[in-house]
Amino acid sequence: MSIALVILAAGKGTRMDSDLPKVLHKIGGAPLLHHAMLSASALEPERTIVVTGHGADLVEAAARDFDPDAITVRQKEQLGTGHAVKQAQDAIDGFDGDLIMLYGDTPFITTETLEAMIAARATHDVVVLGFEAADPARYGRLIMDGSSLSQIVEYKDASDAERAVTFCNSGVICANAATFMNLVSAIGNDNAAGEYYVTDIVGIAKERGLKATAVTCDEAETLGINSRAELAGAEATFQSNRRRALIDDGVMMQAPDTVYLSFDTIIGRDAEIEPNVIFAPGVTVESGARIRAFSHLEGAHVSRGATVGPFARLRPGAELAEDVHIGNFVEIKNATIDEGAKVNHLTYIGDAEVGARSNIGAGTITCNYDGVMKHKTTIGRDTFIGSNTMLVAPITVGNEAMTATATTVTKDVPDGAMAIARTEQTNKAGFARKLFSMLRAKKAKMAKG
Ligand code: UD1
Ligand code: CA
Repeated sequence: MSIALVILAAGKGTRMDSDLPKVLHKIGGAPLLHHAMLSASALEPERTIVVTGHGADLVEAAARDFDPDAITVRQKEQLGTGHAVKQAQDAIDGFDGDLIMLYGDTPFITTETLEAMIAARATHDVVVLGFEAADPARYGRLIMDGSSLSQIVEYKDASDAERAVTFCNSGVICANAATFMNLVSAIGNDNAAGEYYVTDIVGIAKERGLKATAVTCDEAETLGINSRAELAGAEATFQSNRRRALIDDGVMMQAPDTVYLSFDTIIGRDAEIEPNVIFAPGVTVESGARIRAFSHLEGAHVSRGATVGPFARLRPGAELAEDVHIGNFVEIKNATIDEGAKVNHLTYIGDAEVGARSNIGAGTITCNYDGVMKHKTTIGRDTFIGSNTMLVAPITVGNEAMTATATTVTKDVPDGAMAIARTEQTNKAGFARKLFSMLRAKKAKMAKG
């Protein structure tokens, strides 16, 4: 069965109290919208249609950032969820599979749950995702008749008896696309809110002799984000779920609560993550690597056997080969560090290649930026870069080469050569003692008067 998604993301999110559209607030480094798109992407949807309104330009850009083929349609006025789905009419035209409608602000629906809904479609025309609510509050109530769903009643329109129902609407609905749109076109706005409720399609389906049912999921999955507090709570839930999943997959963490993960963090079995490590998006750590305390990683790949930190920063494009050592207060950006190379202390390596087994001394800097453009540094294999070397890029240091401590390298260094560029040292006999006594006398005089 081919699938099309319609994701509703036009709402304002007033309670977020933010200039940013609600669906662009992030959990695990990715916008809520991406989370909604991600869980559904495993179904390999043929079309993904995102309905935008508030902050449409930004939301559309984010939708295409996740999926360049995403179709976006605008809902000019937010007249309700039914009206929102209607905006997808042209974009869904000619599609003859199933349509799954979900909300852009509901990030935790799992692929398994969506698959269960698709499976239920075999015997029902309309499938709604429901949950047993601990506190049903203002959710729409699912009115069941045995295993068939006869109606969804919105809180505002519900009788006391209906409000007593705790089986609630998550918002996700699945039906054949043509059927769905046909039902939606029959929705009116004669209700307590004066809105077009998409939930009315269930009652309309029943009148037409179609069969509806509900699939149940965990309440945690249907958690929607409406406020900053809910966003923070959802982030905490996301983090503990991801940590737990990694630990279950064999990752070692001494203090999991202090490790922050992104939606796409990949960490291999037997890798060790020390306390207080932050994984921004785009990080892969292979099996058996070790990320030591207080390191920050983003857009980086750490191979088997490599060690990073403590207090290291890997920025986008940091590519560490096997058994590389990156030590304290080292920053690596857009650079490949080959097998067994060591960059152990107080160093910046940016826009560079460092060859296998080379050693980069403390305080080395690749001077990659001239104020206008970035330039590349290439260092060969088995090379020794002395402490406090300034590598003024573009520059190449060959294989089995050396730079003397405190050298400013402005010319390429051939294979096997040593570069030295610093003023020669002179020792002035007795000068230090003389200077000390002059300075002490001066200090004593000042103290007196
Ligand atoms: C909706 C359901 C309710 C369900 C609840 C679950 C309806 C009528 N009610 O209520 O049964 O229990 O979700 O959270 O559907 N949106 C638009 N355009 C609009 C209105 C909404 O794009 O004109 C989007 C919002 O951005 C949001 C989603 O649709 O992502 C849900 O809208 P919201 O107003 O939050 O619906 P609820 O009142 O929570
Ligand atoms: Ca809502």
